[in-house]
Amino acid sequence: MAEPFIEVHKLVKTFETPAGPHNVLRGIDFTLNKGEFLGLLGPSGSGKTTFLNMLAGIDKPTAGSVLVNGVDVVQAKQRHLTRWRGRNIGIVFQFFQLLPTLTVVENVMVPMDFADVFEPRERRDRAMALLERLGIADQANKTPDMLSGGQQQRVAIARALANDPPLVIGDEPTGNLDRMSAGNVFEIFHEMAAQGRTVLIVTHDRELANNISKVMVLADGMIEATTLEAAARRRTQELRAIQLRTQERRALKTKSQEMRATQ
Ligand SMILES: Nc1ncnc2c1ncn2[C@@H]1O[C@H](COP(=O)(O)OP(=O)(O)OP(=O)(O)O)[C@@H](O)[C@H]1O
Ligand SMILES: [Mg+2]
Repeated sequence: MAEPFIEVHKLVKTFETPAGPHNVLRGIDFTLNKGEFLGLLGPSGSGKTTFLNMLAGIDKPTAGSVLVNGVDVVQAKQRHLTRWRGRNIGIVFQFFQLLPTLTVVENVMVPMDFADVFEPRERRDRAMALLERLGIADQANKTPDMLSGGQQQRVAIARALANDPPLVIGDEPTGNLDRMSAGNVFEIFHEMAAQGRTVLIVTHDRELANNISKVMVLADGMIEATTLEAAARRRTQELRAIQLRTQERRALKTKSQEMRATQ
């Protein structure tokens, strides 16, 4: 039987800004079962990162509840939450957030040292095995600033998998990777889901999303189950709207320049 792993109820997030309140999430109800692999889509600024931050307890919602594997992420005390997150969620952040003064292999070991799931003597070998799996073992002793964007992203993925967490969350985790590396990373995610881990990935990559069993779109502060085709259609429409707006703006600018020139 399907076992809910993430349960979100009436989730609201409003940011107070100088321009007034900005309602990013407007009452989301959402369930993800154990062992499911979900692709989350949605236009830039629709609140995907905000939503992931609520699930991981990195930020608190304005209203609503979030349960992850039975843990009340909204009510839990910060100290408890930090430790719980370290053991239970592997997060690939949109902007990597690697520690600049540590080497690559040390970066991957940080969550292991923090969560104490694996024995100290196993940790370096495990980190090296993950780096190997992601094709960057040869970068292990460099600091992150010496790596390309795609290599840094793979370090961030290795770090997210360090404690073999039951939940993996990725915020466009393959955005900087070539097709082959991205495919390889998605294979790892698929494998994790097949082993009963729950995987939630924000992605814009249609081809990769094609193989994901479940796709949802975040738009206008709400989340909806959809087909990949509908999501793609929506994205094409959005891109067309952006193109049109840009063309209009260009035309206006040219017109006003012409008018100024004739004055
Ligand atoms: N701390 C904050 N204070 C005020 N507004 C914020 C804050 N964080 C995010 N926002 C706003 O909330 C909206 C959603 O942001 P978010 O980063 O979640 O979008 P996203 O879907 O992840 O976009 P992208 O695809 O570009 O990463 C944006 O309009 C953003 O400006
Ligand atoms: Mg984002």
